[in-house]
Amino acid sequence: MSRVTLSRYLIEQTRSHNTPADLRFLIEVVARACKEISHAVSKGALGGVLGSMGTENVQGEVQKKLDVISNEILLEANEWGGHLAGMASEEMDNAYQIPGKYPKGAYLLVFDPLDGSSNIDVNVSVGTIFSVLRCPDRNGAEGDLGEEAFLQPGTEQVAAGYAIYGPQTMLMLTLGDGVKGFTLDREMGSFVLTHDNIRVPESTAEFAINMSNQRHWEAPVKRYVSELLAGKEGPLGKNYNMRWIASMVADVHRILTRGGLFMYPRDAREPEKPGKLRLMYEANPMSMLIEQAGGAATNGTQRILDIQPTSLHQRVAVFLGSKEEVERVTAYHQD
Ligand code: AHG
Ligand code: MN
Ligand code: MN
Repeated sequence: MSRVTLSRYLIEQTRSHNTPADLRFLIEVVARACKEISHAVSKGALGGVLGSMGTENVQGEVQKKLDVISNEILLEANEWGGHLAGMASEEMDNAYQIPGKYPKGAYLLVFDPLDGSSNIDVNVSVGTIFSVLRCPDRNGAEGDLGEEAFLQPGTEQVAAGYAIYGPQTMLMLTLGDGVKGFTLDREMGSFVLTHDNIRVPESTAEFAINMSNQRHWEAPVKRYVSELLAGKEGPLGKNYNMRWIASMVADVHRILTRGGLFMYPRDAREPEKPGKLRLMYEANPMSMLIEQAGGAATNGTQRILDIQPTSLHQRVAVFLGSKEEVERVTAYHQD
């Protein structure tokens, strides 16, 4: 059987599902940037890319060298092609303007250039998460593209995905018609379709949460996790296993592969923030992938994709994965 590369898949999508050619080009460019990031990540200490920059991003987090390198790779790859009206990223305070010398396009690209930064130096999987939106009509307005253009609910995403840099580099992609997984063939230099129909099982016996925050959680999460821990003898009558990689890409990848529940609830450490993870470039793209694979994603009270964002770096509580467990923990929030 002939191998289906990402390029071929995208061309076939263009024919069969009327995927616009500039969206196809956009995904190709993002994939190319991810190959470059994968290469930089894999060099590790040999490439002098490990460690911190000594700077902080807008969220007050220490920037790793690879956070900044990955951000630059994505900007440079995407700014000239004429497919974008603007970009936004975890590592930039404000919207990135397409330089005046380049043509502008119909889409907005939002990304977490390197997710799981705390794992880079210890050689654990990290990744790049991205979300594609349409740029709203600016009614002929000239000048800088403001943050408002990006503030669209996740249901408006036209594509979403992530690249994971692990034992294999993979690209997981949805164009709103299921989820496809591509594995990077390093000799050929192309992503090859290896996972054609990704489905998250409805039931699971595996959960992911940073247990060290337990004392800071809200009551419904404390109740739910204590029931999971009670196992067969508890109210759920089943033993659960736990995994926490501390790279959302890696935890979500496991869930897309064999099911599970990922939780990053809001907690009392920073009570003014509704969670740790960011809505626009972490929760929304991951929620679209999970829903497209038959799973569910809520913030405890509401479907994540329905949330109307109010700022670019907005935080959100996240419960995503196998439907049964997402529904259970969401229901506990209603009690
Ligand atoms: P980032 O490296 O982009 O800042 O994101 C890290 C996120 C996410 O990937 C992970 O699930 C979570 O932070 C880990 O948080 P803890 O350090 O609290 O475990
Ligand atoms: Mn992240
Ligand atoms: Mn990041």
